[in-house]
Amino acid sequence: MSAQDSDSLEQQILSDIDAATDLAALDAVRVAALGKKGSVSALLKTLGGMSPEERQINGPKFNQLRDRLAQAIETRKAVLEGAALQARLASETVDVTLPTQNDPLLTGRIHPVSQVMDEVSAIFADMGFDVAEGPDIETDFYNFTALNIPEAHPARQMHDTFYFPPDEAGDRLLLRTHTSPVQVRTMEAGDAPFRFIAPGRTYRCDSDQTHTPMFHQVEGLVIDETTHLGHLKWTLEAFLAAFFEVDNVAIRLRPSYFPFTEPSMEIDMQCHLDGARLVVGEGVDWMEIGGSGMVHPAVLNYAGIDATRLQGFAFGMGLDRLAMLKYGMPDLRAFFDADLRWLKHYGFLPLDVPGLTGGLSNRQMAGQ
Ligand code: DAH
Repeated sequence: MSAQDSDSLEQQILSDIDAATDLAALDAVRVAALGKKGSVSALLKTLGGMSPEERQINGPKFNQLRDRLAQAIETRKAVLEGAALQARLASETVDVTLPTQNDPLLTGRIHPVSQVMDEVSAIFADMGFDVAEGPDIETDFYNFTALNIPEAHPARQMHDTFYFPPDEAGDRLLLRTHTSPVQVRTMEAGDAPFRFIAPGRTYRCDSDQTHTPMFHQVEGLVIDETTHLGHLKWTLEAFLAAFFEVDNVAIRLRPSYFPFTEPSMEIDMQCHLDGARLVVGEGVDWMEIGGSGMVHPAVLNYAGIDATRLQGFAFGMGLDRLAMLKYGMPDLRAFFDADLRWLKHYGFLPLDVPGLTGGLSNRQMAGQ
């Protein structure tokens, strides 16, 4: 190899070293030059075939070349390592002024209404009830007519309904005023016997400390050949005792009127006030918690059920009210304010799923 060749080899390798933009590329250049089979090692091997005079000149020359290149690689390596470190420091910056991140499972909260819906579902599921659902936007037929509330019936006015604008035919959709339409929809879609609850949102044009335009109800329906009022009473008492986590709750069924039941009864539960605290299942006071009755044959007919053969009971209760009574929240409107402080205080931890075996609410409330 001529002196010229070793010069251009050096130039080539130096420019490769310069061109290496990361440590891996630089190492590849090193192996290609100084590795066992590298170009500089090959150059050194040519010394063996040279005359002693040539070797005397080229020996030191090639060795110096190798040393210069090794030095250049080391220098470049230090530069690239510095740059890699800078890049890492920049990308892994920690803003120490940020608040510490808590586990979302510990900071998130389940709203008391969701909690109560889950509790109610767990209790009724244990009694063999399915959970049914229906749409929030209803037709006049399912919300009223099929529940034996005909066109001019005064009950329609009582409901303070939110209506949508009428279509060309003059029909108006509405926001369901109760969960009772789910009775008819579910009976239409299935076959008797029926045993289900239907929790969900309901809407009425009403707002004060105990009423909000959107609220929640749970409907219950049992239809078969033999179900009677005694079953209704037992079911409600068993539900209330389980829900309020006491041994017994007496109820009083007070005669009332609903178009979709005959006879119709308001449900009062036994309780008393201990200071500001409501004690359920003891005492001489009664608190109304919902409506109920034996399903009116007209409703069964609308749902395509043979009312001469099948019968049963229905009930409807306010879920928000149940939540307020159980967890001591005084103002219904706060349920819908989306105030995180309220939710932190009254909400529930996400992994505390209510169940009859693990307990409905025997955990600490999350905010306390
Ligand atoms: N739908 C009634 C309401 O919203 C509540 C109700 C009463 C439901 C009696 C029922 C029932 O299923 O049998 O006021």
